[in-house]
Amino acid sequence: MEIIILKDAQAGSEVGGKIVANLINEKPNAVLGLATGSTPVMLYNEMIKWHKEKGLDFSKVRTFNLDEYIGLEKNHYASYYRFMNENLFDEINIPEENKNIPNGLAENIKQHCLDYEAKIVEEGGIDLQVLGIGSDGHLGFNEPTSSLASRTRIKTLDEQTRDDNKRFMKDGDPVPYHCITMGMGTVMDAKTNLLFAFGENKADAVQQMVEGAISAMCPGSALQMHPNAIIILDEAAAAKLSKADYYKWVYNNKPKWQTY
Ligand code: F6R
Repeated sequence: MEIIILKDAQAGSEVGGKIVANLINEKPNAVLGLATGSTPVMLYNEMIKWHKEKGLDFSKVRTFNLDEYIGLEKNHYASYYRFMNENLFDEINIPEENKNIPNGLAENIKQHCLDYEAKIVEEGGIDLQVLGIGSDGHLGFNEPTSSLASRTRIKTLDEQTRDDNKRFMKDGDPVPYHCITMGMGTVMDAKTNLLFAFGENKADAVQQMVEGAISAMCPGSALQMHPNAIIILDEAAAAKLSKADYYKWVYNNKPKWQTY
């Protein structure tokens, strides 16, 4: 794991934007795995800036989102389909047919999940997966006790996650109980995993993920077994890491060829 601790979410998202831009410049038809929630919004702003100000071309990029709620219409204000259009896709030149988001209204969810996995493989696998982490350690919606080898499937959200996500709902609408999520095995197959965590409410989950034992109780800890996981944190999310000074030294003293 490479742990990068920066002063705030903006600085972290700028580095993330550069990592994504470097990949697309090197491989214009890269396959990106994408996340929703508050955390990647600043990263998406950076990607939009790269597109609008520096001409970064998304016309050949393919994307797969991690998850979607079950039962919400595509254009429901809280659907991840809508989130992605509003926060990224409407602002870059990615063709409609290159975007993939699990369909929370699929009639045959089991088959849809199998097809989603097959399409990722067909497209050559995910080059770079963007991730956030839940306060309970979930990645995607792989809640604690999810199999660390799981594939795309239906999951039931943990109460803590439903509570955390109340802020995205209006007029007392309930957070759905069910979702479709890529599995931990799917996430682990990505060539690079790029995880962001910002704010003090992520500090415990980050500590477990980075320095705790590998355990299904903190699905994020599976990334300890990933050969290319980059973890970008602000000071608040890194506050409980015992080796924070070491991670900072390493990052600040990288050989030039290894910097982003
Ligand atoms: C969303 C997702 C989730 C979020 C996590 C953190 O696609 O996969 O794992 O990354 O719930 O959410 P925020 O960023 O809102 O704190």
